[in-house]
Amino acid sequence: MSKHKKNDLYNLLLGQLLSQDEGIDAELLSNSALTAIKFASLNRNFPIISNILSTASSDFQRNNTRLNQTIFGSQFKNPLGLAAGFDKNGVGAGLWSYFGFGFAELGTITWHAQKGNTKPRLFRIAKEKAALNRMGFNNEGAKKFSKTIEKQKLPPPRHRPCVLGINLGKSKITPLDEAHKDYALSLRLLAHLSDYAVINVSSPNTPGLRSLQETKQIKKLIRTLKDLSNCPPLLVKIAPDLSNEEIDEIARVSIENGIDGIIAINTSLNRFNLKNLKIQTGNTLEQENGGLSGLPLQERGLEVMRRLRSNTKNDLPLIGVGGICSARSAWERIAAGASLIQIYTGWIFEGPSLVPNILDGLTLQMEKHGFRNIKEAVGSEEPWK
Ligand SMILES: Cc1cc2nc3c(=O)[nH]c(=O)nc-3n(C[C@H](O)[C@H](O)[C@H](O)COP(=O)(O)O)c2cc1C
Repeated sequence: MSKHKKNDLYNLLLGQLLSQDEGIDAELLSNSALTAIKFASLNRNFPIISNILSTASSDFQRNNTRLNQTIFGSQFKNPLGLAAGFDKNGVGAGLWSYFGFGFAELGTITWHAQKGNTKPRLFRIAKEKAALNRMGFNNEGAKKFSKTIEKQKLPPPRHRPCVLGINLGKSKITPLDEAHKDYALSLRLLAHLSDYAVINVSSPNTPGLRSLQETKQIKKLIRTLKDLSNCPPLLVKIAPDLSNEEIDEIARVSIENGIDGIIAINTSLNRFNLKNLKIQTGNTLEQENGGLSGLPLQERGLEVMRRLRSNTKNDLPLIGVGGICSARSAWERIAAGASLIQIYTGWIFEGPSLVPNILDGLTLQMEKHGFRNIKEAVGSEEPWK
């Protein structure tokens, strides 16, 4: 089947559903896709499945060595990753490379399994290429997660076709002052499976979680996790709603305490210019709880990236996420300082062809600017041509 036909098929099957806010529940749609992905990942070495996967992946993968980088001791085939929250339980860990991603961040995982908030808790806002979610870290817990990963028989960390990060959060039942112990229990169990781990202190849907971004709290968290004998490269993921001064402070404290990278940004409590927009519940965005993602985050994501880059003086790998939904926005985030970038909402709306579109766009920009490796573009502030 030709590439165009496949994209048409995607648009025909899902594009119609995704372009309307009403209709099939957004979470049900993602869960159905994940069921198929889980089956394919577990059975990816069976000849029939492996044939289907290699045919499909030829449309998405780009094997261009100019996009390679070694970061956190791992080789990234390209700088584009799947952001945390889509594969919360790691069921697709063996499959993300087939979609062309250079890396995927699994989770958020908490020590205790938890159901998350009541449904509906995920809403499409198609016209704005945005989504609102208040999932609340629904996940099967760290113990089940480790079994899920082991069952997929992946190569060990640093030898995988797709680098895998594990994003950790605090269990809802754990009091805030014991958060560090909760993260540590998860990390101790999962460290040997991770190429890198993320301290998520920025999701808006766990009460009090974002207060862990404060100086004393984040210091305690980083120190506790860094003290584990098997701690993998450790990153912190921050919120877009911090003030610029708070961003400077969290960068400073994180670096002082040995952090290996920063991910910016998580979903936002800000509604930007969409306060009065009504969603499926009949309420306006301003009246609904949850974090906004997608295109409305693009500008803030870029601004936070520039701020972090100027604070970290090119010393620390930064991962840019939030509102990236085209090759141009991907290039701009890299040029602003991101060594790696991630997508979530854009990938849902644009479909899997967004991955090769971004990778091809980055390659073309590198050619236009005379860069031999994507590393040279990081923080270059070279404009999109
Ligand atoms: C439905 C949904 C669930 C998410 N769950 C998580 C999560 O569990 N952990 C996390 O760190 N980020 C989570 N995120 C945030 C994304 O990883 C990303 O930071 C944010 O959506 C901005 O990127 P985007 O505009 O490309 O979607 C979630 C986002 C969405 C839309």
